[in-house]
Amino acid sequence: MKQVDLEKYGIDKERLPYHIAIIMDGNGRWARQHGMPRTVGHREGAKSVRDIVETSSIIGIKYLTLYTFSEENWNRPKKEITSLMNLLRNLLRKEAEELNKNNVRLSFIGRLYKFPENVRSEIERAKNLTASNTGLNLTLALSYGGRSEIIDGIKKILADPSIVSQGLDEGKFREYLYDPELPDPDLLIRTSGELRVSNFLLWQIAYTEIWVTPVLWPDFRTEHLLQGIAEYQKRKRRFGKVNATLY
Ligand code: IPE
Ligand code: IPE
Ligand code: MG
Repeated sequence: MKQVDLEKYGIDKERLPYHIAIIMDGNGRWARQHGMPRTVGHREGAKSVRDIVETSSIIGIKYLTLYTFSEENWNRPKKEITSLMNLLRNLLRKEAEELNKNNVRLSFIGRLYKFPENVRSEIERAKNLTASNTGLNLTLALSYGGRSEIIDGIKKILADPSIVSQGLDEGKFREYLYDPELPDPDLLIRTSGELRVSNFLLWQIAYTEIWVTPVLWPDFRTEHLLQGIAEYQKRKRRFGKVNATLY
């Protein structure tokens, strides 16, 4: 098994982020830099996914959520979408067994019904295969939009008016998100240097620490993840309160 040296990065094992979310961006720019079509960038990006999932699992991260395909990504050229669908289908088919062996539990959030049947069947298969695993909870956000998630939640509530009379608060509303069990991320990483959240987990990132790296997703490896975790551990999370040690 791969060795991961947390001490080298000054990481305290006892204070790891419980939930890391990643906006995996920059595949297209990586491909352009290498004089290749965008689809090659996506294929290279899959290698980063493998590395980051493996490392997260080894060091004991409980939740890892990857922004894999956004609601807005449907507006890309048909050729790119087709190639992304093929990549996704093949990866799910090929990697599910390995993830299962490593005790990883796979979940999905997003408007999954929008995917073609041959992708949806792989999603179902991977989910069922790994459902009882107790290690890393790996969530893929697919056809995901933070606004859609909130709207879809409101629609479910409107379909059952008794919910409103029970009293609607933040805790109750969470039950209507795509995955009510998914905790808020502690750390949100975005690759490729863009300073925006691009409609990712809007409800859940209210108090998440954000770390942006210029590294393009296909170049992102364990060392960068550990760098992000080390940065996270330097932050003072206040959640709107005052920090007694500072004043
Ligand atoms: C992220 O890389 C992957 C997806 C959004 C599917 P991009 O494809 O957005 O790459 P850039 O941002 O154009 O470099
Ligand atoms: C966000 O990246 C979506 C994913 C990483 C899946 P985009 O490349 O789609 O976001 P923008 O267009 O730069 O905001
Ligand atoms: Mg992008």
